[in-house]
Amino acid sequence: MKILVTGGAGFIGSNLVRHLVNKYPDYRIVNLDKLTYAGNLESLRDVESNPAYTFVRGDICNGPLVTEVFEEYGVECVIHLAAESHVDRSILSAEEFLRTNVLGTYTLLESARRYWSRKGSSKRHVFVNVSTDEVYGSLGTEGVFTERSPYEPNSPYSASKAGADHLARAYFKTHGLPVVTTHCSNNYGPFQLPEKLIPLVILNALEGKELPVYGKGTNVRDWLYVKDHCTALDLVLHRGMPGETYNIGAGNEWRNIDLVKRICRELDELIPDSPHVPHSSLIRFVKDRPGHDMRYAIDATKIRSELGWRPGHGFEEGLRDTIRWYMENIEWCNRVRSGAYREYYEKNYSRR
Ligand code: NAD
Ligand code: TYD
Repeated sequence: MKILVTGGAGFIGSNLVRHLVNKYPDYRIVNLDKLTYAGNLESLRDVESNPAYTFVRGDICNGPLVTEVFEEYGVECVIHLAAESHVDRSILSAEEFLRTNVLGTYTLLESARRYWSRKGSSKRHVFVNVSTDEVYGSLGTEGVFTERSPYEPNSPYSASKAGADHLARAYFKTHGLPVVTTHCSNNYGPFQLPEKLIPLVILNALEGKELPVYGKGTNVRDWLYVKDHCTALDLVLHRGMPGETYNIGAGNEWRNIDLVKRICRELDELIPDSPHVPHSSLIRFVKDRPGHDMRYAIDATKIRSELGWRPGHGFEEGLRDTIRWYMENIEWCNRVRSGAYREYYEKNYSRR
């Protein structure tokens, strides 16, 4: 199978490329990534010389380039992850979100439609549109998101992802493009940029820096280990029904403040001699994020019952492995936190 993965140098993309290359040595995996501040080829060092893997640097908004990639590699399936992905950045400036997430998704859908209809082959094609649970908006204390929940995006990020999802749906309905959309909850694990909550808290705590908790810290997120997201995408790629959508999540809800305290406790145990013990003394409540969704929670019954997916990692084990990974990969962290990252950190946190 010849698979185009977009955004394969990002957090989930790099974990997915590794999963596919190791599990299916006879497949061809082409990773198309622009290498924005969020893309890092270092995250794929261990697979870069694998003959099943090819990297192409490029922008998914560049139609001629995307078409060339389809033709040159004979792309049969797409797993589309390339995106601007951070809510706080979308609040500071939304334009790049609209460009990449909406126009980029359109460019890929249109290129796939043209290429696959021109080829007219008997191969099974599928376009996996990797979306988020954030398109459903915010829950109160009760209830969960199902595939039938209405779209109510509240941030420029989630609105741009919603726009992409509507286009993907329209390409299935209008053109019969075999699109499958997934809505996953918050991921955590190795290779996540430390602008997102879990790695930010781990690294700041290790360095004795403040741990910024937005508002009262009572917002709830439903956490999934990234490797479990990859097994779900693998199943959707092979067995997902065109035109269907699948929610992905492990039913692992945490209030932000409880999660941050939990990470602090883990660090206290792992490095009892640190001058920053107890790490929880570093917690600072800071000004809330505008439009901050209160709670996300996923009902993953459909992917469990129809595709047989099960998460393979408990939260305790996943969180501990993640903390250890960041402690053992400080070099990677330092490199991704240089330059552009520091500028963003200053902009987002200095006046909170
Ligand atoms: P990320 O920000 O870590 O990585 C995004 C990747 O896309 C980077 O490698 C970047 O270089 C690339 N990219 C950005 N703009 C591009 C462009 N115009 N052309 C080509 N490449 C471009 O993101 P992530 O956390 O790995 O998320 C991947 C996907 O999964 C996104 O679509 C996101 O919306 C979705 N998602 C993420 C989560 C999460 O918790 N991280 C949860 C659910 C869904
Ligand atoms: P984040 O990792 O940015 O993911 P998302 O906004 O996509 O859910 O944030 C997770 C939660 O943590 C969210 O409720 C916002 C909160 N948060 C903080 O309290 N402090 C921080 O510094 C960050 C980055 C996030």
